[in-house]
Amino acid sequence: MVKTNELTTVAEMLANFPQFVKTGENTVLCSIHGEYTQTTYQNGRTTNCPACERERKEQRITEENKKLKEAEKERKSRRIDELLGNSGIPKRFQDKTLDNYKSNSQKQKEIINNVEKFLNEFKAPQGHSGRCLTMIGKAGTGKTHLACAVASHVIKHYGGTARFSSVSEINRLVRESKSYNAKYSETEVIEAFGNYDLLIVDEVGIQSGSDAESRALFDVINARYQNMNPTIFISNLNKDQLKAALGERIYDRIKEGGGVILGFDWDSYRGKQ
Ligand SMILES: Nc1ncnc2c1ncn2[C@@H]1O[C@H](COP(=O)(O)OP(=O)(O)OP(=O)(O)O)[C@@H](O)[C@H]1O
Ligand SMILES: [Mg+2]
Ligand SMILES: [Zn+2]
Repeated sequence: MVKTNELTTVAEMLANFPQFVKTGENTVLCSIHGEYTQTTYQNGRTTNCPACERERKEQRITEENKKLKEAEKERKSRRIDELLGNSGIPKRFQDKTLDNYKSNSQKQKEIINNVEKFLNEFKAPQGHSGRCLTMIGKAGTGKTHLACAVASHVIKHYGGTARFSSVSEINRLVRESKSYNAKYSETEVIEAFGNYDLLIVDEVGIQSGSDAESRALFDVINARYQNMNPTIFISNLNKDQLKAALGERIYDRIKEGGGVILGFDWDSYRGKQ
């Protein structure tokens, strides 16, 4: 009884507002969704096609989400820039492209093919698969050239973020983050490395880090693995030595999900130019 009384009161209240008082219902045709019942209110307001309204609402939500995502990406990339500076691509390699890499042999052509496939994944609708690309082999064969070419392309043509780094730089930044006056925490450094659309880790196996240091590399690679962000590894080591240098857990991740290891075993290009 109490409830009925309350409802009556609400209905009576609404009757005082012309925008809530229905004056008619008509069947109207939406050019997209067909017939619907249009309600007219006392103040002259009429309702729109409910399907159109729903689509508009969904579109508004999608757009708002997109804006939020972009703002978040922007905030993250500003934070990363602050922390790690620009792409880190060395000056010597800034104008390297896949086109200015000369591939004369069949092996080089296959490698270019593989590198192009890896690069093309960045523009796939579903994004990059996150698989790794590993380049191992002799000095001067163009490993750093090709990796930098991919990074420049991602930045210039796909609007992505890419960072050229090395095992020793990652170790150093993580080590520095642990000092008492560090500007950034270890977690922030790992997160920053983990968030680039592409990370290049050059000079794998040049120095053997302490256990704690190889932990740092593992944490970075694992963060990227979880974010499904791809990494390019470069080394002069052979596969067995690479496995020993990286440790089994990282080595497993570089081969996962279609990760390839490309061998560069021809003579150095240096001095040939
Ligand atoms: N096939 C090629 N076509 C054009 N330039 C090349 C080619 N191979 C190498 N180069 C050039 O030779 C130089 C050495 O190449 P790069 O530094 O990429 O070799 P690398 O394999 O990384 O060697 P390292 O293992 O010593 O670091 C660079 O200037 C690079 O642009
Ligand atoms: Mg190199
Ligand atoms: Zn409609």
